[in-house]
Amino acid sequence: MDKFLIRGGKPLHGTVTISGAKNSALPCLAATLLSPKTVTLHNVPYVRDLITQRRLLEDLGAETLLLHKHTHKITASDIELFEAPYELVKTMRASVLALGPLLGRFGKAKVSLPGGCAIGTRPIDLHLRAFEKLGAEVSLESGDVVATAPKGRLQGADLEFKMVTVTGTENVMMAAVLADGTTTLRNAAREPEIEDLAELLNKMGAKIEGAGTSTITIEGVEELGEAEHSIIPDRIETGTFLVAAAITNGELTIENCQPKHLEAVINKLREAGVEIEQIDDTTLHAKCSKDGLRAVDVITQPHPKFPTDMQAQYMALMTQAEGTSVVVETIFENRFMHVAEMQRMGADIEIEGNTATIKGKKNLTGAKVLASDLRASASLVLAGLAATGETLIDRVYHIDRGYETIVKKISSIGGDITRIKESIAMSAENGE
Ligand code: EPZ
Repeated sequence: MDKFLIRGGKPLHGTVTISGAKNSALPCLAATLLSPKTVTLHNVPYVRDLITQRRLLEDLGAETLLLHKHTHKITASDIELFEAPYELVKTMRASVLALGPLLGRFGKAKVSLPGGCAIGTRPIDLHLRAFEKLGAEVSLESGDVVATAPKGRLQGADLEFKMVTVTGTENVMMAAVLADGTTTLRNAAREPEIEDLAELLNKMGAKIEGAGTSTITIEGVEELGEAEHSIIPDRIETGTFLVAAAITNGELTIENCQPKHLEAVINKLREAGVEIEQIDDTTLHAKCSKDGLRAVDVITQPHPKFPTDMQAQYMALMTQAEGTSVVVETIFENRFMHVAEMQRMGADIEIEGNTATIKGKKNLTGAKVLASDLRASASLVLAGLAATGETLIDRVYHIDRGYETIVKKISSIGGDITRIKESIAMSAENGE
């Protein structure tokens, strides 16, 4: 498996360009299954998860054409398979996003029930109950979810999620666009990625209102058509580079981002002593204040509050802040896998249940560490960039899932990071 070798202690300076949002491109690619016509998606990030999602569409029978690595033309006119196999789902849980479109358009779907992952059990019971509310029959057959619409078409319904679920909201929204009648989703997720998906679906001919709020209404239509859409920038990659500027005591210009998608992150970082200036609608400038960083508590919550996907990166920053800070993780039950690795680098962090207490400022020293999941990997890269000495991060395939050419991007702003290749082929695929 590939590793990253980082020689830390160098402030980052320069300009970094943000890629398209992985967590918007994944449902948007799945949404192309809802139409027999061509859907063109721009600004798709060139990361492993999107390569996997594209392969799933091809396995189902869709025709995919890459005009270049960020633009996908997808035509799902000849779908002849309605299932996502275990071998694929186990590598990427977001394949469950094929359930809603297949069920909504063809009245049938069979998708391997995703297992848990490093950060939690991550069930999809809320997705399945909602499909049943739309008139689907859902059963579990040797590890596969089998869903059918007995009447051939789902029926609109009024339903409420008992807890906020991002892909649950996306899956059910996609299932409902071709249903007979109107569907109301209450306690829906409000992430920008939900709004982006709804915008694509409406361009395809759907009738969705309220995306981005807790109540979404979907008026079923007969058929969807063609569309062209550009994926929003990745707000978590943006937040990650804001932290990178501060934790290395450098100065970065971050372009092609969408500041209004990460207001809670920007506000929290400013509270902690990061000077962030909005240059224009799509550009931020960040550096650490001359007085250094302050310990500030954070609790992760659904959008528009502070996102769980920035928790590990924020914790890395708090190791460099004067004082004691408390990080509470309320979304996933096991999202502190990065803590033990940071402790190996000298961080003073104690965990009790879903609460981590960080005592700073502690100078970090480079060490051999292990990446466990996508965002934990990003936090270890940040810690390595701040540490003195060499950090060797193993299992960096996790980070390749969601950060496009991160070695190239960090090197271009003065970071000393190299990929130690396990296989030439793999590195070529990651565009580095
Ligand atoms: C999405 O995951 C994101 N993934 C995650 O990003 C993100 O961390 C998460 O939302 C929370 O913001 C994609 O969009 C592809 P949830 P998702 O359903 O939809 C529980 C990353 O790093 N739950 O909002 O799977 C669940 O266990 C990834 O890019 C149920 O109990 O998250 C969790 O505790 C990691 N039953 C909570 O709800 C269900 O049916 C929120 O999960 C569904 C969810």
